[in-house]
Amino acid sequence: MKRYVILISGRGSNMEAMLAADLPGRCAAVISNRPGATGLAYAAGRGVATAVIDHQAYPERAAFDAALAAEIDRHAPDLVVLAGFMRVLGDDFVRRYQGGMLNIHPSLLPSFPGLKTHEAALAAGVRLHGATVHFVTPTLDCGPIVIQAAVPVLAGDTAEALAARVLEQEHRIYPQAVRWFLEGRLRLADGRVRLEGEATTAGALVAPAG
Ligand code: GRF
Repeated sequence: MKRYVILISGRGSNMEAMLAADLPGRCAAVISNRPGATGLAYAAGRGVATAVIDHQAYPERAAFDAALAAEIDRHAPDLVVLAGFMRVLGDDFVRRYQGGMLNIHPSLLPSFPGLKTHEAALAAGVRLHGATVHFVTPTLDCGPIVIQAAVPVLAGDTAEALAARVLEQEHRIYPQAVRWFLEGRLRLADGRVRLEGEATTAGALVAPAG
């Protein structure tokens, strides 16, 4: 059975969705860079080991990355899952786990990388917004895409309303992507996503409907 470690910074609702999904692997630990991350209590309550590597204790990013890597490696995971982990990781760290580290980003990448994606989507006037799970590579929010979900942007949407609609989809697609990896069906080969045995979905989502 494959092992995975989840990295969080706060609420941890994606982590909750994953732990509740009964995935075919063992969550070896949940690690936060913030001592106050509320998701830690949920993980501990489910009997998952938790750890904090407080980024504020490390003035140098490289030292933080090294401490984080040491904690991760203690659990010997096959997969590192970034779930609302809000620290930028250095190139060396990313290369160490390349092909074995996933992230979820609240936009349809490559649109709206970085922060405040829902505000940016509203400002741009896009009609479709969504979420993306991707392999992590050194360029932020740019790695090979595994799965995306689109939601319509509705008249009168606020960033909060849109974020909630997107989050619901995050909780569907992230456990799905992790499940594929744990089943050995998802991997990165020559910089491209290889997914075995998944039927392609027909049709397109268009909003507003003509
Ligand atoms: C999610 O929207 C995730 O995509 C983004 O930060 C949020 C984290 O939420 N990177 P949670 O901690 O999983 O509840």
